[in-house]
Amino acid sequence: MSLLSPAEGWYYKKVAKDEKMWMIIALVLCISMFVWMIMWHVYGKQNPSSITYRTSTTEFAKLSEAYIKKNMVGVDNGVPVVRPQPNTDVFILSEMWRWSPALILQKDQKYKFHISSKDLVHGFSIQPVNMNFQVYPGYDYVLEFKPTETGEYKVICNEFCGIGHHTMIGRIVVIEKEEDLKLYGYENLKKAPDPLPETKAEGKELSETDKALLGEQVYTLKGCAACHKLDGTSLLAPSWNGLFGKEEHVIENGKQITVTVDEDYIRESIKNPQQKVTVGFEKNPPMPVFPLTDEDIDHVIAYIKSLKK
Ligand code: CUA
Repeated sequence: MSLLSPAEGWYYKKVAKDEKMWMIIALVLCISMFVWMIMWHVYGKQNPSSITYRTSTTEFAKLSEAYIKKNMVGVDNGVPVVRPQPNTDVFILSEMWRWSPALILQKDQKYKFHISSKDLVHGFSIQPVNMNFQVYPGYDYVLEFKPTETGEYKVICNEFCGIGHHTMIGRIVVIEKEEDLKLYGYENLKKAPDPLPETKAEGKELSETDKALLGEQVYTLKGCAACHKLDGTSLLAPSWNGLFGKEEHVIENGKQITVTVDEDYIRESIKNPQQKVTVGFEKNPPMPVFPLTDEDIDHVIAYIKSLKK
């Protein structure tokens, strides 16, 4: 309450003429800007309106993993490659620090993208066409997507998401005819053999090559590729290239020891990552425990063995 009451009837005073005029101008401006906002959305070069569903990070990760496993046609540098049928749903997962899968799309065909994040906010930015979408964990963004030009598009992350942010680059290639695959090195993609039950039922033993291909599938699907690179670089974790048989200095119970990377060492490192930590990586974010079956781990071992220097 104020000290003095205002004069009686203060609120009822005629609005002056010029004040009225300004109010009308402001109102007209507001309305016209509002109309423009809608027009611009429809006719301007704006991001499309997307449908969004509530989901959970684990649910979406499961969904995309199942989708990729079913549809992958090969692997590109640790990332599964999927060639979706036109007019189908495509599940794209972002996580620290990669986009999965890489896509081969057909020009002038429609696809329905579902995009979500496994951990934190990432930015789905298609270059060089510069289309940008924010990707939130817990939300499934649905985007109708129709590429109208062939070529290679990079998906970069434009939301800072930590130490590996700058390495988070995905790939979409748009082709018109089969020969175009050659332009992107996708003409000889290798597919992992069908999952085990049938092979097992026939009592067939998997060859080392098949095991390695299945291991590669685990490597790409479970996201090992996000930290363990194949090109010899080791930003976040030891590279898998030439790792098998190597002598590594590790820290166990605070003491530094030397181990040879063999099957047992890899098995232990997957099941209990903190037991022995490679010297040089002890300050990095710790490796999580991945829910892998013993079979998965055997295949991963076969895969690491197959990676020569
Ligand atoms: Cu993801 Cu930056």
